[in-house]
Amino acid sequence: MKETYSLSVGENDLARMTLLNDIYMSYCIDFLFENGLKQGLSIADVGCGPGNVSLWLAEQVGETGKVVAIDNSDEQLNVLNKRIAEKQFKHISTYQCDIYEIDQLNEKFDIIFCRFLFIHLSQPLIAIKKLYELLKPGGCLILGELDNSTWSSYPVNEALEQDRNLLCTVGLKKGADFCIGPKLYGYLRQANFNIMNVKIAQPVLFGKHRDYIFLKCKAWAQAYFEFGLISSDALEERIKHLYDLAHDDNYLIEAAKMYFLCGRK
Ligand SMILES: C[S@@+](CC[C@H](N)C(=O)[O-])C[C@H]1O[C@@H](n2cnc3c(N)ncnc32)[C@H](O)[C@@H]1O
Repeated sequence: MKETYSLSVGENDLARMTLLNDIYMSYCIDFLFENGLKQGLSIADVGCGPGNVSLWLAEQVGETGKVVAIDNSDEQLNVLNKRIAEKQFKHISTYQCDIYEIDQLNEKFDIIFCRFLFIHLSQPLIAIKKLYELLKPGGCLILGELDNSTWSSYPVNEALEQDRNLLCTVGLKKGADFCIGPKLYGYLRQANFNIMNVKIAQPVLFGKHRDYIFLKCKAWAQAYFEFGLISSDALEERIKHLYDLAHDDNYLIEAAKMYFLCGRK
């Protein structure tokens, strides 16, 4: 099956990606520092998208370090290139390449970071083995990935449950695994990584972060339609229910669990 990315890219998805980044970034920061992020390191951010983390990483490693932001989408990299130019950073560059062809990059890194990438991949173990080769001896692969079966609320909300199930179904139809988070532990072991650290974060959504539950449904709509999983009327109804849920403070809303893993070469 040919792998295709299911979401919009470039400016069209920047606002949603930035909100998603806001929800999970503090946990990423903690995990990265806990696992050796410091000035002077060379880091690859693979599946970097519009570069929210890549830019932050560039600030952390400083001018004595470097960041290479890698993605297979030109449009994502165009957004990031503009942002790099605005900041006048000289120690971050972009590189367009598919993860399955990443061995063409003739460079080794202290840290390789990937977030929100592995749910999109149909051959995650092959990708992890390729990343292993790109690390310096003693270098670390640091992953942050979701288990999309864990979006939940209390009390239980039917629209949220249905949307969560639909999303997981789309993943399977695409030959990917949108619930891959916990499985990455086994993949890292199979690829010979020494597993140094695993953490799980599950943010509770407050304020504007609660909007993510209907923005998520809108963002995935095209993929739902592609597999005939929902009619446009039912989708509109679903988005309306999710909007109401986001604005009903009687509900506690939990974002999907994010699995953080650090494996050393
Ligand atoms: C959801 S975005 C994640 C962006 C970023 N890592 C973050 O945490 O904000 C996923 C990115 O992975 C990229 N991507 C998907 N499949 C890929 C592949 N096979 N090789 C390289 N990049 C890929 C997409 O183009 C997209 O920009």
